[in-house]
Amino acid sequence: MTEAKKTPLLDELEKGPWPSFVTEIKKAAANSPSAQDLLGQLELSYEDKRGHWKHGGLVGVMGYGGGVIGRYSDIPEQFPNVEMFHTIRLNQPSGWYYNTKALRQICDLWEKYGSGLTNLHGSTGDLVLLGTRTENLQPFFDEVSNLEEHPFDLGGSGSNLRTPSCCAGPARCEFALIDTTDLCHDLTNEFQDYLHRPMWPYKSKIKISGCPNDCVASIARSDFSIQGTWRDDIKIDQEAVRAYVAEGFDIQGLVIDKCPTKCMSWDGNELTIDNANCTRCMHCINKMCKALRPGDDRGATILIGGKAPILQGAMMGWVIIPFMKLEPPYTELKEFLEKAWEWWDENGKTRERIGELILRLGMRNFLRAVGLEPVPQMVNAPRANPFFFWWPEETVQD
Ligand code: HEM
Ligand code: HEM
Ligand code: SF4
Ligand code: SF4
Repeated sequence: MTEAKKTPLLDELEKGPWPSFVTEIKKAAANSPSAQDLLGQLELSYEDKRGHWKHGGLVGVMGYGGGVIGRYSDIPEQFPNVEMFHTIRLNQPSGWYYNTKALRQICDLWEKYGSGLTNLHGSTGDLVLLGTRTENLQPFFDEVSNLEEHPFDLGGSGSNLRTPSCCAGPARCEFALIDTTDLCHDLTNEFQDYLHRPMWPYKSKIKISGCPNDCVASIARSDFSIQGTWRDDIKIDQEAVRAYVAEGFDIQGLVIDKCPTKCMSWDGNELTIDNANCTRCMHCINKMCKALRPGDDRGATILIGGKAPILQGAMMGWVIIPFMKLEPPYTELKEFLEKAWEWWDENGKTRERIGELILRLGMRNFLRAVGLEPVPQMVNAPRANPFFFWWPEETVQD
């Protein structure tokens, strides 16, 4: 094992009240030479004020183009145990439900084949296993995908479908309006080829939240954001509303005034909601969940185009289908996804996400390609910019 190195600069990051990744890597370094060299190389990066990692490189396992992220040190002579430091993404179960046996199996295998360091869970949602050598990838994958009780598949990386992910959903959350875990599992199986074989201009992500609280932040982090919603009226228990107020709850300040569309009113005795103007943001329901509940006609809103910066700046997804009933086998959703991907694949430039392509070629081209009618909810800045370029043949000429 490489001799333990002094890390005065990294030690600074252990001070203060927060958990520190340095402390965790030091713990792993007791048994892992690569974790030890990781500390050494990082300390040197702080001294030199530049990173010592090379980016990229093609690595993988048989039959897969995704799931492994290659990394190499640019000073392998000094830090031989991190000469290669590849990351494996494993496809997490829907909603991140495990039993301890499943987790122990992975930890044992990662101590055997990798650095022992993990990132549960990565920002993509996957189980992220940090740091191994090229020759360990295949044996690790063979073992992890053949575990008798809880085998795991690789997740997505590269220009392909990224591992779909979802919120805890109906198994734990009273707000869930769709079965996020079932949908996530179903889509993962349905589109497994797209997950494993990079074939598109760039990445494409699906994240699913059971309600507009959007606990997986799907609107900002995924090209296709699926959020549970309802389309009938919010259910109001007026007695329970009055009980909130009687207990001193500031209904005017905390609910009525904060409704984004100002569609609620309170006359001191009755709460009224103009449901046609409610955008189903969940604010009032979160604040008074004993008195207000979503309606019973449930489904999902589909948003498109969310992404972090690369070719263009960060974008939030915008509504493409205001309401879709979502029940197995989810055919309507799958057909929409296939059509959208096909248009993107045909027209997208390298590294262009679907939202950027829609901006470049125009929403009307996208809508025509996927066969959707324009609706007001698709307007990028609703209530601020109602502008839409119609096709000439759709306008009335006199
Ligand atoms: C300038 C240097 C780097 C840049 C610009 C960069 C950029 C990125 C980007 C854009 C992603 C997200 C990819 C995706 O959405 O799937 C990513 C993920 C990742 N990168 Fe890097 N990277 C850099 C250096 C490194 C280094 C040095 C390592 C490890 C030694 C590393 C390990 C990872 C890992 C493990 C992930 C996945 C994280 C997760 O899923 O939560 N990166 N990187
Ligand atoms: C030169 C600096 C950086 C570059 C070039 C960079 C680039 C990127 C890119 C291209 C992505 C993927 C975008 C996508 O999913 O569409 C990404 C994702 C991400 N980056 Fe960065 N990044 C930088 C710095 C940082 C820093 C400083 C942090 C955190 C402190 C960070 C945290 C993340 C995270 C958490 C994600 C994943 C987002 C998600 O998919 O949920 N990045 N980055
Ligand atoms: S997004 Fe909604 S359903 Fe999902 S965990 Fe959050 S509050 Fe619950
Ligand atoms: S869900 Fe949001 S928009 Fe609808 S009534 Fe409640 S606060 Fe207003």
